[in-house]
Amino acid sequence: MNIIELSFERVFNKPPEAVCFAPGRVNLIGEHTDYNGGHVFPCAVNLGIRCAASCRSDGVIRFFSENFKNDGIKEYSVADLSLQNAWSDYPVSVIRAFKAFGYPLPNGADFWFSGDLPDGAGLSSSAALEVATGTMLRELFSIPVTEQEIAVLGQFAENRFIGVNCGIMDQFASAMGLSECAVLLNAETLEYKYAPIGDAALIIVNSGVKHSLAASAYNDRRRECESALRALKARSLCSLTPCEFEERKYLISAPVCLRRAKHAVYENQRTLDGADALAHGDLQAFGKLMNASHRSLRDDYEVSCEELDFLAETAQNICGVYGSRMTGGGFGGCTVNLMESGVAEKFINTIRIAYKQRFGIIPEVYKIKVGNGAEIIKDR
Ligand code: GLA
Repeated sequence: MNIIELSFERVFNKPPEAVCFAPGRVNLIGEHTDYNGGHVFPCAVNLGIRCAASCRSDGVIRFFSENFKNDGIKEYSVADLSLQNAWSDYPVSVIRAFKAFGYPLPNGADFWFSGDLPDGAGLSSSAALEVATGTMLRELFSIPVTEQEIAVLGQFAENRFIGVNCGIMDQFASAMGLSECAVLLNAETLEYKYAPIGDAALIIVNSGVKHSLAASAYNDRRRECESALRALKARSLCSLTPCEFEERKYLISAPVCLRRAKHAVYENQRTLDGADALAHGDLQAFGKLMNASHRSLRDDYEVSCEELDFLAETAQNICGVYGSRMTGGGFGGCTVNLMESGVAEKFINTIRIAYKQRFGIIPEVYKIKVGNGAEIIKDR
């Protein structure tokens, strides 16, 4: 028995029937475009959440997380899946989503989770938790859903039950990622293609800042984009090219909505251009687009913060770094940095020292590998 199975047994007094893994993600470019009908370009990372589980037949669903050990076992009944204001509301919401989509509800189960994604760092630990739960439900109860549907169910769970109006990017990357590739996803049609990222090094730097209002600020951004869209009378903000946007932008009267819309339209174009540059092996061009993305997120979308700006600007000035930008929803969390593989060590030292001098803490740095989407480690 391996460590995961032993840990499960220590908590639930029986071995698990199945074990799976769902990764977190890092987005290379295409931020705040998914819910505006645009493109995103994320990769699954080799950090994520492991889940072990087994069925029960008494109508009880129990959850345990090694990361929230102090919370003990969280218990719900199949008949009443009301949220309890706890971490376990995420997996419960996924079960509710499966129910809402007409899949048969299990008559009980025990779930164990353990993750190595930093919490609240913008690497999608919640999407990984949702996708791990969906992948496990499919395995335990032989539910006929595809990986893509698991991503959609995870997003539905988060929108409907958790109350964060996120787009599809995080769940899609966690469910559909592919080793050594970024995924160019059209978030409107869910058409996607894989793009090898070559041998450049990808390093994530965690600012350590967690913005407690991130969820409400995220929902505010969505509302501002919707208001700009109503004025523009387009199908979605990202259905407009930058040229079309420039011609019509006078229709948006609120300056703040104009800035949000401008970011979405140009960021979508940067994402398409970035995928193109990568396909031609032009990492310099790709990096410049990443830098421009950061500026736009800082100035027009206003989702960066002093610490992220400092990390991105410091990184952009290190020789051998192609590009650096904040990644994920923002208001704290991480930067993603793309560089020649030979400069990785120098980069890590420089950024650690500079951040410590400025903010008094040594930031966590992850040299990540681009991994696969969710997979079963032990089947039933
Ligand atoms: C969060 C959301 C995603 C996406 C990003 C911003 O990670 O979950 O859907 O909107 O923010 O790009």
